[in-house]
Order: sequence, then C-alpha cells, then structure tokens
Amino acid sequence: MISLSSQGAAALQQARAQLAAALRDDSGADDLLARFDRWGPDLWNGLVGAYDAETVLPRFVELIAQAHRDRSAELRARDTERLLQPDWFQRPEALGYVAYTDRFAGDLAGVQSHIDYLSDLGVTYLHLMPLLEPRPAPNDGGYAVMDYRKVRSDLGTMQNLRDLAAALHEAGIALTLDLVLNHVAQEHEWAVAARNGDTAKREYFLAFPDRTLPDEYERSLPEVFPAFAPGNFTWDDSLNAWVWTTFNTWQWDLNWANPDVLCEFADIILFLANQGVDCIRLDAIAFLWKRMGTNCQGEPEVHAITQALRAAARIATPALIFKAEAIVGPDDVVKYLGVGEHAGRISDLAYHNSLMVQIWSAFAMHDARLLTSSLNRFAQIPSTTAWGTYLRCHDDIGWAIDDRDANSQGFDGGAHRAFLAEYYAGEFDGSPSRGAHFQSNPLTGDRRTSGSAASLAGIESALEAHDEAALTLAIDKVLCGYAIVLGFGGIPLIYMGDEIGLLNDYSFVDEPEHAADNRWLHRPMMDWPRAKAARTSSDYSGRLLRGLTELIEARKDCDALHAATAPEIFHGADSAVLVLRRRHPGGTVIQVFNMAGSSRELAADSLWPLDTNQLRDLITGSSVTLSSGALRLPAYSTLWLVDTP
Ligand code: GLC
Repeated sequence: MISLSSQGAAALQQARAQLAAALRDDSGADDLLARFDRWGPDLWNGLVGAYDAETVLPRFVELIAQAHRDRSAELRARDTERLLQPDWFQRPEALGYVAYTDRFAGDLAGVQSHIDYLSDLGVTYLHLMPLLEPRPAPNDGGYAVMDYRKVRSDLGTMQNLRDLAAALHEAGIALTLDLVLNHVAQEHEWAVAARNGDTAKREYFLAFPDRTLPDEYERSLPEVFPAFAPGNFTWDDSLNAWVWTTFNTWQWDLNWANPDVLCEFADIILFLANQGVDCIRLDAIAFLWKRMGTNCQGEPEVHAITQALRAAARIATPALIFKAEAIVGPDDVVKYLGVGEHAGRISDLAYHNSLMVQIWSAFAMHDARLLTSSLNRFAQIPSTTAWGTYLRCHDDIGWAIDDRDANSQGFDGGAHRAFLAEYYAGEFDGSPSRGAHFQSNPLTGDRRTSGSAASLAGIESALEAHDEAALTLAIDKVLCGYAIVLGFGGIPLIYMGDEIGLLNDYSFVDEPEHAADNRWLHRPMMDWPRAKAARTSSDYSGRLLRGLTELIEARKDCDALHAATAPEIFHGADSAVLVLRRRHPGGTVIQVFNMAGSSRELAADSLWPLDTNQLRDLITGSSVTLSSGALRLPAYSTLWLVDTP
C-alpha cells in the first residue's frame, strides 16, 4: 500500500499537469502519464526522504519529459516488452557476463563482433566495466569519470555504444553499464569549475576550510584503500579546502545533499537509458550520504534517493533496471533491494557478496556450516528483485565474515578472516591457492585478497606441479563454485575468462598505472585462441567450459530456479555437503554440492520430499541411485535432483 501525504497528492497533481502540457504533441504521452500515475507516488516519497520535494519535483518532471521526447521508437518498443515481462532478469535462463571492453575485445566494435561467443555461452546480460571518459590513468579502472556523456575515446563513441546496444538487443542480450555516483574525477568539469571559483559548483562537493569537521568525521569512518589512499579527505590548494575523497585522492565525493547533484544524475541516468543501456550498476551506492558519527554508508537517505531515481526511470525509460553495488554486511545488503517502505521500489538487483565470500570460506574449511548459518540470517528479498550471484569479479575479495556468524559456529571472526587471507595467498599449509594480499591494514589487521578464480582454486599451482589429480580437484572446485552461483537463484555473473579458467596475470606490474593495484592480477586480457580451442580441447579450459555449459543448459528450463523462489539452505549430516531445496509448484529441485576435496555422503532423509527411488540429475540427465541409504558424492561434485516423471 503506498501512502501519500495530502501535500504529495497535490504536488503530484500539479506535476502531472506540467507533464501533460510538456508532451501535448507526443504520441506516447498517454502511456507516459499512466506510468506517472503509477510511480509518481514512489517518486514523491523518495524525494521527500532527502530533499525539499516540492522544489525538486518540477525539475524531475522536466527531465522526464525531455528524456521521453528523446527516446527512440525502438527503445519505446523495448519499454513495452519489458513492462510485459518485468521478470526478465529473474528467469532461469538469465545469465550474466562481466568484462572490460578493451580486455575482452579491444573496443566497442570488437565486443559487437564477439556477440556470437556470448550467445553460444547462453549470455543474456552483459556488464561492460566502466567505459565512460575517465581521467587519464591512474583512474581506478575507469571509476574516476571525467565525462558521463562521452565514451572513453580508445573504446569508441556514443554512436558505437548505441550500435552495440542495438546489436546486443537483437541477440537477446541486455547491456549493463557502471554509473559512478559517489564521486567524480577531480578533472570532471564540475570539479574544475569549483577550483576556478564557481561557488555553485563548489557546493557539488564536500569541502572544508580546516581539519575540524574532517577530523570529527574520521572518528567513525573506515578507510577503503588504507594502503594507497589513507584517510578520507585530501587537501586541495585551489579550493583552499579539505575535499572529501573516500576512495583515491583524485576521486572527489559528491555532495548528494545538494539537489543539483541529484538532478544532474537523474539526467545522466535517463541519457544513458536512451543510448540503449538496460541496467545501471550503481557503483559504491552505500557511500552517497554523509552523516556525522556514522560510517557514512547506507544512511536512510541513500535508499530514498535510489527510490526517486528508480521511479523517474520507471516513468521515463521503463526498460531500465538498477543494480546496487553495496558490498556491506548481511544485515544491510538486503536494504538495497528494498525493505519496508522501499520494498520493490529501489534496486532490482544487488550483488550477493556474502554468498561469494562464504563459498570460498567453505572451500577452505571443507565445511558448509558457516555458509548455511550466515545465509539463513538474510531476510527475504522482495519477490520482484534478485541477487547478482558471482564467484569472482574485478575487485578484491574482502573477507566479510560477520563476527556473530563466526561466533555462532564456535570460532573467532578475526582469526577466521586472517586464516582466509593466508589460505588464499597460499601461505597456509596445504593451500593450493595463488592469490595475493590486497590493502593490508596494520591497524585493523584486515587483509583482502586478489587473484583469479582459477588461481585461487588451485589450477595454477597444479599446472605448475604437473599434478593431474590436483588439477582435476581444482577444476571441479571452480565448477562446484559456479554450480552454486548458477543454482542459488538470481542472475549468475560469469567474470570474463572464468569460463576457460584464465590464470592470474602477473604482467600488471609492467604497467606503471596498474603496478600499485594488484586487483589487476585478476583482470587479464581475454585469451581468444584458448577460448576458441576450449570448445573441443581436453585441457583445463575445455573441461571448465564444458562443465559450465552443462550447468547453464540444465538451469535454463528449470522453473524452480526462477529468482522469485527462494532456496531453503542447509547442510547434510556431513557438514561439507551443502543442500539447496526449492519447493516450487512446477516441482521440487534439490541441489547438492560437496564442498570438500574428498568424497562424502548425504543421507536419504536430506532429499525429502523427493522420491529417492526415482531421482534424476538435471545436469547430466541421468538417473541417480542411492547406496545403503545415502548418496555418494565425489569431491566437489554437484547434483541437481528432481523426481523422474
Ligand atoms: C566499486 C568498484 C571498485 C572501485 C570503487 C570506487 O567498489 O567496484 O572497483 O574501486 O567502486 O569507485
């Protein structure tokens, strides 16, 4: 039930008249007005949560009218299509792929020429890493944007982007782009104007004449990059002030309390949607709102702002969805998909960082108990939203193990986090991993981890040692991890190169602007000869690709894997065995994963309500029999079980 104040109702009525007048001659005006009636209250309530809504609403109406006028006939048709199939990203056939444009295919035209590769894999959603004009390197892999309306010149032009989006749409693939909202490059025209004395633009940033307030804020602020950008403020001579810089010194945080900043971004979002972008990844969304005495992450205004922006997009460019990048704890992440008044009204997708961390943690321990207990603490997400599930991404792995979760399993959170960092750096006895420490923080003892999925799982060390048995285990471990990612529910995101097991790329140290940031270890160039050969080769790449393809195929037709059906998560009597049960009107599916490097058993009673006399594995299509009342599970094996009809 949407509640709306009488002030809101009156303001919306006026706004509707403003919109109708602005679009008097537009053939799509009726549809737009219908959407305004439907989502106008969301817009108002969002604005009220952070701004003087009465003054901001008319500005939004102008932006919406303009974006609607600019929207092409093709994209308006896509709007209708998406409105009729709003669950497109929740469906079992939805599959994501995440890549850097240059590292995957040189430039945007190159990506276009590799659409077949993506289609063959079954991809329906492509996230191209930051590609809007960044500051000259270093630029945090493009997360320091200078111009949101220009494509990085070596990758192509806005026209190339529109062409690519259209070609992807033709192939049934949605396009996701990053939108960096927390900060801009210090070379962005807003920052340049502020330095040149433009007082209105100075208000776009958080600039302090002395250390009084920065020091007070620092008391409760964590450091994101303690090793290469300690502290959260940077002195700027031209501004004669300390500027808020949560990330690097050249990434200037924006002052989202200023409604001008909000309107700029509403405009940018609608502009990108009109280029054919289907999903906006809200980069570092947690950090937008600053409040003294807090860690300045996930303040209530963040969700109100997201709701206002989401409503504007729903009205003007309804094919667009939002994905929240909020790498926060279990208690907080669910809020980005909307709880309470925001349920179903903000982001459609959010990264399931905890699932990723817990998978690697369970592999290191050969035990799924911590995984099941922490994942069971997550609140239900709105049925219209979905997780983005993943095993690796372009960022490091922060060992976000909650202290309470660790305690509930009888161990210490700090000690377990330290163990994981050491294990995946290959420093722990018996670890096959080849990761590297990222951002070691001597003050907190915190260490994060870089490294590709293949190298973390042990493929690199097994190849080096010519150890065939270890190689098989490592391949099966990656496949088991991906089977969980594909089986959990939500849109699985394959990180470029994982499908063929690309190893760590040690050459990043040769590039001066990358050398200090070892996240480039797991941002390799696509190995096209390897990718092409993998379809038929029997090497590790071929084995991975075939295993992954089998999982993708099995998933496609399985209604129970629609993201709206949440899994029941538990482990077997042997706690290395993770079980996900989905009871769905179309039939129950029970997914079984052995997360240990040795063979294990699962007792028949864990397979309820399936009939254990007639089990079939969806992945291989073969029937499965129990021996002495139990399922035997080879190391890192996966079964997706259903009743044989
Ligand atoms: C996000 C990105 C990360 C970047 C940061 C700052 O967390 O994933 O790569 O460093 O935002 O923009």
